[in-house]
Amino acid sequence: MGRFFSGKALPVLFLCIWFFPFAGSAYGQGYRKGMVVCAYPDAAKVGLDILKKGGNAVDAAVAVQFALEVTHPEAGNIGGGGFMVYRSSRGVTNTLDFREKAPALASMNMYLDSAGNVIPGMSLSTRQASGVPGSVDGMVEAHRKYGRLKWGELVQPAIDLARNGFRITKRLANDLNMGAKDFRKLNPGTNYLLKDTLWKEGDLLVQEDLAKTLEQIRDKGRDGFYSGRVADEIAAEMQSGKGLISKQDLQNYHAVWRKALTGNYKGYKMITMPPPSSGGIALLQLLQMVEKYPLSRWGYNRDSTVQLMVEAERRVYADRSKYLGDPDFYKVPVDSLLNPAYNASRMSSFNWNKATPSADVQPGKFAGYESDQTTHYSIVDADGNAVSITTTLNGSFGSRIFVKGAGFLLNNEMDDFSSKPGVPNMFGLVGGKANSIQPNKRMLSSMTPTIIEKNGKLFMVVGTPGGATIITSVFQTILDVIEFKQDMQQAVSSKRFHHQWLPDVVYIERGALDASTQSILEQKGYKIVPQGPSGRVDAILVMPDGTYQGGADPRGDDTAMGW
Ligand code: GLY
Repeated sequence: MGRFFSGKALPVLFLCIWFFPFAGSAYGQGYRKGMVVCAYPDAAKVGLDILKKGGNAVDAAVAVQFALEVTHPEAGNIGGGGFMVYRSSRGVTNTLDFREKAPALASMNMYLDSAGNVIPGMSLSTRQASGVPGSVDGMVEAHRKYGRLKWGELVQPAIDLARNGFRITKRLANDLNMGAKDFRKLNPGTNYLLKDTLWKEGDLLVQEDLAKTLEQIRDKGRDGFYSGRVADEIAAEMQSGKGLISKQDLQNYHAVWRKALTGNYKGYKMITMPPPSSGGIALLQLLQMVEKYPLSRWGYNRDSTVQLMVEAERRVYADRSKYLGDPDFYKVPVDSLLNPAYNASRMSSFNWNKATPSADVQPGKFAGYESDQTTHYSIVDADGNAVSITTTLNGSFGSRIFVKGAGFLLNNEMDDFSSKPGVPNMFGLVGGKANSIQPNKRMLSSMTPTIIEKNGKLFMVVGTPGGATIITSVFQTILDVIEFKQDMQQAVSSKRFHHQWLPDVVYIERGALDASTQSILEQKGYKIVPQGPSGRVDAILVMPDGTYQGGADPRGDDTAMGW
């Protein structure tokens, strides 16, 4: 359940939350000096404490990133990567790409057998599944450019959580118990995150090896991870099972500052992540495709609203499959994809009477052109600086392979590449040349950290995990606030739906559509597949009086804390 409390009033508010789990909006608002919304309560508290000590939003983000490595091992990470979208209180924007890279020894057909077929699981749960981690360099770089407090002060809270331990939630206990079989199978001889009996709510989780690794990072910064003892341990882990990441790969890794991608929707300015995320481009395409329609008049999750959004999603994900990849390796046609005339033309085949079969929709053509588990946190500080970060190991607990002795999990981000044209990855996404494997290339992502301005002022900070559904969850959350006038918590809690071109189905969270809406859509040919919870949106809305209102996703242990 999502939780909302100030640092001070914690016990009372815990009680309120216990009895009124969905009355979130009453608790997550009214704060002026700053707010942190992230996937785990202890990590949110770390971020809030940094803000209270005079740290800015980037300082808090660095501390939260390391605290999530300790408290949210499903996705929090130093062994993975991510993206940061930044907006200063003066409106200066920037983005940081700390996405993992393919190791230098990676090659296009590395996951294919001699008959040319994809080897099941090889890009997911082997030592070859990991890209070169980017998170530590990303945090060092973000702090170097924008940080205010000392680096060591930002890493220390995570060290304390790892060494002294913290009490785990029921959800984390369940996740650890579910991961235990793989942890044992994939990590002979190590016992990190394992115990002899089942984990249960309230158990103390202590991670001494991780505390030592974080001390290296605290004391040596980038060198504490990309060279020296930790780099040796990563390289040894790779050598124990045909992994490809070398010490040279680690030394060569550098996060990249990229110009933010911007677009407009009905007077709101979207500031979002450029490639190698597909999320920013896809979000702006989706917003262009639906902008001219009276969504607020039709209403939230009504049949016309859902139909229009699904048809836009179908077309945008078809484009994603062909045109999106690492811009350092592939010329992504950003201008063409964001041309309003192009997106209008994509919707010209849309028919109100009948679903467009995905088989009839191919990636668009331009003149002169040839082709769950992640986590998000949103932070604002007293000055109005804002940070939106989505970071990932890819699968839940990544590859489930630990770096022996170093106490952290490795990503399985290589699965985000297209192993073979047209063959779906873990999220059912297909791709081709733009996202094929090449040495040192970044794999395409759907992560969509986004900041929104209204009249030149900060309006919203938003993002979510969820693999392929990230883009559509961010899209819906934005429309829920702008079109359907939901408050931040309602928008985050709202039931979601998703279409990604292939497979040609509309996934809905159970209860997202009422029976008559579902029936109207089914009569038009939409195949609707109910599913469990989708995404964990963590977001902040700036109210007209300048106070912050949080939305923490009730689908997880997500927590909003302000002051
Ligand atoms: N690993 C999920 C993504 O980056 O889209």
